[in-house]
Amino acid sequence: MHILHIDCSPREQSHSRNLSAAIVARLFAAHPGASVTRRDLGRHPIPHAEAAYAGALAAPGNPDAGAATRLSDELIGEIEAAGTLVIGTPMNNFTVPSVLKAWIDQVLRIGRTIGTTPTGEKTGLLRDKPVFIGIASGGVFAGEHARQPDFLIPYLTAAFACVGLTSLRFYPLQATAFLDEARLAANQKALLAALDVTGIGAPER
Ligand SMILES: Cc1cc2nc3c(=O)[nH]c(=O)nc-3n(C[C@H](O)[C@H](O)[C@H](O)COP(=O)(O)O)c2cc1C
Repeated sequence: MHILHIDCSPREQSHSRNLSAAIVARLFAAHPGASVTRRDLGRHPIPHAEAAYAGALAAPGNPDAGAATRLSDELIGEIEAAGTLVIGTPMNNFTVPSVLKAWIDQVLRIGRTIGTTPTGEKTGLLRDKPVFIGIASGGVFAGEHARQPDFLIPYLTAAFACVGLTSLRFYPLQATAFLDEARLAANQKALLAALDVTGIGAPER
């Protein structure tokens, strides 16, 4: 099994890094021969979509797009080569941090990962695969005690579905601003107890 492991926090003592690393460790425990590609968007952010890239998207199929889509090609290639994605991300202002949005802008690409029907609907062109998403949030955005809107889970669900990735599993570690480390560790343990790696990495039929 090959894992694409993406982190989005710029912080060293990051809860979402810790969470995504624990998910990867669980996958390794189930599949000792697994391999990993790292894409650390938090420490090594990618550039925002530039004019040449926007131009290439406006004219999909243009063989001269070349350099404008090189980064996009590389990032999409990393997804295609993986059997499983693991993402660690903070919630920033009710949604994904801009480093993750910059990545999404490169991998949701019309004519490459997104197809269109004659009537204008979008169809995902990637093969579906499990996507584990560990989220750290300072406050509470999910569940009965939610105190703020959530534009992160619905957004990622819609964005990934657009390219054909619908097998998403979310693991929100909430209230990092309020809970002490012992309580957060206990909450993370409870979250990961519900993590089911059964069937992940099984050969395709
Ligand atoms: C710019 C910024 C925006 C944030 N916005 C939110 C937010 O909307 N909701 C929330 O619950 N926490 C918010 N936080 C708090 C982070 O989600 C929290 O500190 C989280 O633990 C960060 O992830 P990390 O520990 O992996 O770095 C924000 C933090 C920053 C720096």
